Amino acid sequence: MNLFKSSNDAAKRAVAEAALAYVPRGAVIGVGTGSTANFFIDFLADLRNQIAGAVASSEATAQRLKKAGIEVLDLNSVNELPLYVDGADEISPDLHLIKGGGGALTREKIGAAVARQFVCIADESKCVDILGRFPLPVEVIPMARSYVARQLVALGGAPDLRIGFATDNGNSILDVHGLEILNPIELEREINQIAGVVTVGLFARRPADVALIGGRNGVRRVEPRA
Ligand code: 5RP
Repeated sequence: MNLFKSSNDAAKRAVAEAALAYVPRGAVIGVGTGSTANFFIDFLADLRNQIAGAVASSEATAQRLKKAGIEVLDLNSVNELPLYVDGADEISPDLHLIKGGGGALTREKIGAAVARQFVCIADESKCVDILGRFPLPVEVIPMARSYVARQLVALGGAPDLRIGFATDNGNSILDVHGLEILNPIELEREINQIAGVVTVGLFARRPADVALIGGRNGVRRVEPRA
C-alpha cells in the first residue's frame, strides 16, 4: 500500500468536504478537474437538490458530475458563477497557482475568470515558496508548438511535449521544466503573448481568493498574504 498517497487522499477528501461550506444554495457553480476536484464532486452529490447545476472544466468532470446526478450547464447559458472550486499543482503564499497537470488548464482558467470567488482545495504537498518546481503546462495550437517551444527556451525554460495527449480543445501541451518563477504575474503575461499559446497554467493575474489546505492537523484556510 502507498501510505503517502493514502494520506494525501485523506487530506484531499477533507478539503473537498470543507469546500461545501462555500457553495451558495440555488446557484450554478464552477467545478474543476483532478483527483481533489473529484472528491469535491462526490461530496457535492449530497447537495444536488440544493444547487441549480454546475459548469464543468473538462469532459471528465462533466461525466462525473452527471453520474452524481448534478445537471451540467454550458457556461454560455449562465449569467454568473458565484463560486469556482478546483485543485492545483502548486500554490504560492500569494495564492498564485500552477495548474494544468491534468491538462484542463484552459477551461479551468475560464471558470476562475468568471467566478466571483475561487476556492482552491489541495493537500499541503502543493504549497511552495516559489512556483516552478512543478513543470508549467502551456496549451498550444499544434502547428505552433515548435515555435512556442523556442520562445519558452528563450525565457529560460525547458519545454517537453506531453506525448500522446490532446486537450479537450484538441490542442497540445508543453510542460516547461526548470523555471524559478519569481514574478508570476509578469511571466503569465509574457507567455500569453506568444503567438500560438492558448493558455499558460499560471494563475497569477487571477489568483485563488481562498485556499483550503489539508494536512495531518486537519484543514487550514489560507488567504493571500497582505
Ligand atoms: C488539472 C489541474 C488540477 O487541479 C491539478 O493537476 C491538481 O490535481 P489533483 O487534485 O489530482 O492533485 O490543474 O488540470
